[in-house]
Amino acid sequence: MTLITDVTSRNAQTEAPLITPLVERWSPRAYDPTAEVDPAVIRTILEAARWAPSANNTQPWRFIVARRGSDAFTTVHDAMAGFNKAWADSAAVLIVNVAEIIDTEGEARPWARYDLGQAVAHLTVQAQHEGLHTHQLGGFDAARLHAEFDLDARFEVVSITAIGVLGDLDTLPDVLREREVAPRLRKPLEELVLAGE
Ligand SMILES: Cc1cc2nc3c(=O)[nH]c(=O)nc-3n(C[C@H](O)[C@H](O)[C@H](O)COP(=O)(O)O)c2cc1C
Repeated sequence: MTLITDVTSRNAQTEAPLITPLVERWSPRAYDPTAEVDPAVIRTILEAARWAPSANNTQPWRFIVARRGSDAFTTVHDAMAGFNKAWADSAAVLIVNVAEIIDTEGEARPWARYDLGQAVAHLTVQAQHEGLHTHQLGGFDAARLHAEFDLDARFEVVSITAIGVLGDLDTLPDVLREREVAPRLRKPLEELVLAGE
């Protein structure tokens, strides 16, 4: 069994000082398949999403919360593609992130996906603060989940967030184990600022 014993080895190498959850957040694939997340903690991380800002305070985010062992978890896991299927079954919770892209009057909500992403970002930072790890996924069959959960046409399934506790690297296929310890890279800050100082 191989655990990442020095978790600081995954910390962001920042060009300016950041708050601790942002330094420590990263997206693992090796989760402990026995670890549970207290329902109160799940509530707390969803509360973080609830308090995200959104266009005109429309709050166009919805979530399907699937705990490992539930039918919903199996449904979400079954919709995953390729390598995601190989690791995400060990997460304690899978949250399907859904955007309300059309309001109840039939009007488009052009900022819905942006707002959802921001709510998920808040959720991941709160989860990190709670001692959990998160890994967002785009590699899955969104249309399948839309149908399986019988969602209204106004909703779009956008992404999934896997949440859990760090686990054994040796449970991963070789290619994923290599990615799990590969250096974490980012573009330099200078490249991101298009104008101004
Ligand atoms: C919208 C979105 C989709 C993603 N899709 C996948 C995915 O399908 N599979 C996967 O292993 N990681 C996925 N990721 C995770 C990214 O690869 C990861 O966040 C990125 O490599 C940066 O690594 P870090 O989160 O550890 O800093 C996704 C992340 C986001 C935000």
